[in-house]
Amino acid sequence: MRILVAGGAGYIGSHTCLVLLEAGHDVVVADNLCNSKTESLRRVEALTGKQIVFYEADVTDETAVEKIFSEQEIDGVIHFAGLKAVGESVEQPIRYYHNNVVSTLTLCKVMQRHGVNKFVFSSSATVYGENEIPFVETMSLLPTTNPYGETKVMSERILQDVANVNPDWSVALLRYFNPIGAHESGRIGEDPQGIPNNLMPYVTQVASGKREYLRVWGDDYPTVDGTGVRDYIHVMDLAEGHVRAIEKLNEEKGVLIYNLGTGHGVSVLELVHAFEKANGLTIPYQVFERRAGDIAEFYADASKAEKELGWKAERTIEDMCRDAWNWQKQNPQGYEE
Ligand code: NAD
Ligand code: UFG
Repeated sequence: MRILVAGGAGYIGSHTCLVLLEAGHDVVVADNLCNSKTESLRRVEALTGKQIVFYEADVTDETAVEKIFSEQEIDGVIHFAGLKAVGESVEQPIRYYHNNVVSTLTLCKVMQRHGVNKFVFSSSATVYGENEIPFVETMSLLPTTNPYGETKVMSERILQDVANVNPDWSVALLRYFNPIGAHESGRIGEDPQGIPNNLMPYVTQVASGKREYLRVWGDDYPTVDGTGVRDYIHVMDLAEGHVRAIEKLNEEKGVLIYNLGTGHGVSVLELVHAFEKANGLTIPYQVFERRAGDIAEFYADASKAEKELGWKAERTIEDMCRDAWNWQKQNPQGYEE
């Protein structure tokens, strides 16, 4: 298939482009580079020996998206082109709602015009809100407490409504848990701008000496050791899940919803200790107050994706810790040479 990967230069997108190319698909990327660099795509081309067609384009811009569809024979779309910082979304709600919702609408509009009807969407475990664990696809969604989460709920709803009236459409809503790690080569990985919000990139920057110590946000949660518990998934497993999903849309119509997680919860301190063990390093940390908006514990019920997609996360926490550090070590300034 020839896949348009919106946001393909970013963290999850670049790994997915690599797996798509390796699986024999053609890749067209549209990215406005607001949170990425084309260097990631150059490295994917070098790793795979294959070419990517790249458009520097904002997918909220209908004219720009129309141009891509009129120049390329697109069979399906994977939409990663979102803004993703939860705290920033509280500060800048208009920017977040505009970018994340209008991008989905614009892609749908242009796809409809060109008779393209396969859509894979980057959703998030955040749509479950503070539900019972494990999170299961059949659960009613609860409020997410921030504009970022609401943009995911809204995009899911838009895609469901579009598929409901267009029986030829097939949509996969992929609810990711916590992606970490990098391609095993260490050539592509996560390149956060400024101070990382997320745990793993912060840990790798402490390991490299760029930051003094990790701030652990709370150790008084009702969890195994008091620190927050998440379902960390290797970004390569996640990327492979996307390829299975887009291929599944060739066989099935309608809306398919899948959790992409491992099904296992890991606490902040468990992750820190796994990182230390996997890499033979010490990560200094200090415990602080809980971070506003954090949930104590969540992880996936990952059985539906296994049953229906034949996909299961295979890589271990040790793999994730080793690959995250391998990327950071080789690229201390990210893609900035
Ligand atoms: P990322 O920021 O690395 O990648 C997003 C890419 O989209 C970037 O290259 C950015 O430049 C591009 N982009 C953003 N808005 C755009 C627009 N309007 N037009 C064109 N390009 C645009 O983030 P990521 O971690 O790879 O996340 C990808 C998707 O997965 C996002 O939608 C995110 O919300 C979702 N997601 C991420 C996580 C996570 O923890 N990383 C968890 C759940 C869901
Ligand atoms: N944490 C720390 N110190 C840090 C960073 C994080 O202790 O410096 C803790 C958090 O309190 C939490 C855990 O590490 O308990 C994981 O935090 P992350 O920020 O890495 O991830 P979140 O689960 O908070 O959120 C991420 C994405 C969201 C997405 C969600 C579910 O940032 O966009 O996963 O997919 F919605």
